Amino acid sequence: MSTLCVNGNEQPVIEIKGLRKTYDRKRYVLDNLELKLYSGDMTIIEGKSGTGKSTLMNVIGLLDDFNEGTLCIDGIEINKKTKRKYSIIRAQKIGFVFQAYHLIEAISVKENIMLPFLYSNINVNNDIKQRYDKIVTDLGLGELENKKVALLSGGEKQRVAIARALIKDPKIIIADEPTGNLDMENTKIVIDVFRKLREMGKVIIIVTHDISIATSDDKRFYLKEGKLMLC
Ligand SMILES: Nc1ncnc2c1ncn2[C@@H]1O[C@H](COP(=O)(O)OP(=O)(O)O)[C@@H](O)[C@H]1O
Ligand SMILES: [Mg+2]
Repeated sequence: MSTLCVNGNEQPVIEIKGLRKTYDRKRYVLDNLELKLYSGDMTIIEGKSGTGKSTLMNVIGLLDDFNEGTLCIDGIEINKKTKRKYSIIRAQKIGFVFQAYHLIEAISVKENIMLPFLYSNINVNNDIKQRYDKIVTDLGLGELENKKVALLSGGEKQRVAIARALIKDPKIIIADEPTGNLDMENTKIVIDVFRKLREMGKVIIIVTHDISIATSDDKRFYLKEGKLMLC
C-alpha cells in the first residue's frame, strides 16, 4: 500500500483533498471538499438534512466510493488500486456508531460487542479479553453483559454500539447522529464517552443536529453545498 499524504511533523489520520462525490452524475453531493483531522481531534459536523453528511461519513468510513480527489486514512491513500483492501482497512481502523444502533436485539450485550470477531479469523486472545473488560467497565455496561439487547434502554443500546465500535481498537470512530434517538440525559452520557475516547487519542467524527453537544475544544464544521465550513 502506498503511504502518501505525509505532511509536516504530524501526519493527519484523515486527509481529504478536492473530494467530489455524485450519485447521479448531475449533482455533486460532496464538491471539492477539504478536511484534515489529527489524533485527538473531536470533530462535529452539522448541516441540514440531505446535505451529504451521511454520504461523507460513508466515504470516510470506506462504505462508499467517491469520484474525484484524494482520501488518505492513516497515511494510506484510498484509490482504485487499494479498493480490494477497503474492508481490511475499515476493519482495522474504523469503528461506526449509528443513530439506529444496528445491534442484534435477540442476543446479549456481550455477544453484540464481540460480533466484529464472529466472521474474522482473529483469535480472541487475552489482549482482546482485557480490552473487552476495560470497555465494558468504562461504559458502565458490566451489569448488563448477559442481558438481551432487546431489554435495554436507548442510552444503554447506544453504549453497547459504542463498545462494539471500540472492540477492535480502531483509530477512528465515526458516529452518524449517535444521539438522534436519545433524551438529554443519555445524550450527555454518550457524548461524555466520546470525549473520553478523544483523550485516548482517537479521532472522533460526530454528525449531529444537536449543536448543544459541541464545546469550544471541538472542531466544528458546517456542511453546505458539498463543502465543509469551519463554524
Ligand atoms: N445511495 C444513494 N443513492 C442516490 N442518492 C443518494 C444516496 N444516498 C444519499 N443520496 C442523496 O444524497 C444527498 C445527501 O444525502 P445524505 O448524505 O443522506 O444527507 P444527510 O446525511 O446530510 O441527511 C441527498 O440528496 C440524498 O437524496
Ligand atoms: Mg444522514
